[in-house]
Amino acid sequence: MKESLGQENGKRKSECYQNRLKEEPKGLKVKPINNGTVIDHIAGGQALNVLKILGIYGTTDATLSVVMNVDSRKLGKKDIVKVEERELLEEEVNRIALIAPAASINIIRDCNIIAKRKVDLPDEIVGVVRCQNPSCISNTAEPIQSRMLVKTKNPVLLRCLYCEQPLTENIAEYLI
Ligand SMILES: Nc1ncnc2c1ncn2[C@@H]1O[C@H](COP(=O)(O)OP(=O)(O)OP(=O)(O)O)[C@@H](O)[C@H]1O
Ligand SMILES: [Mg+2]
Ligand SMILES: [Zn+2]
Repeated sequence: MKESLGQENGKRKSECYQNRLKEEPKGLKVKPINNGTVIDHIAGGQALNVLKILGIYGTTDATLSVVMNVDSRKLGKKDIVKVEERELLEEEVNRIALIAPAASINIIRDCNIIAKRKVDLPDEIVGVVRCQNPSCISNTAEPIQSRMLVKTKNPVLLRCLYCEQPLTENIAEYLI
């Protein structure tokens, strides 16, 4: 007998789960997704700031899982965000690089990783982060966008192009 669409889908999902289990016998913390994005290697504690960058708040109806402060060989502690049915924009990836400079972005289609990349900050970021200096020209009524030079990428050190004020801590709080 011909399978209904639903049955076929269910089968594919369970195959996906079995495959992931084989690859990650001890590591799998949450159900695999069929399509979407996994943001891995987020510095421990930063997952909620990543969600903020993605515009995902408490009342979201997006299907996602957030894992925080799990052991990581590379980072000590790391967070992971898995968002279903969403592939990130370049601009979102750049913002994530500001608060999670070691993050990797995995695009999942049909349960497989079809692309994997590290986040990377451009050398200059315009209109993304507010200068900490209240009297900086970019914070006045002037129609001037903030411009930050990226001095180092990990840890992230920014410097205002106008007043040279550095910014390196709590960058999430200064996101525009
Ligand atoms: N279908 C899926 N659903 C949910 N998460 C997935 C899926 N496929 C991969 N992942 C997650 O994506 C991340 C990267 O998976 P991958 O298999 O490349 O692991 P890895 O070899 O440890 O990669 P890396 O070198 O980037 O750490 C892991 O956190 C993994 O759990
Ligand atoms: Mg890994
Ligand atoms: Zn400034």
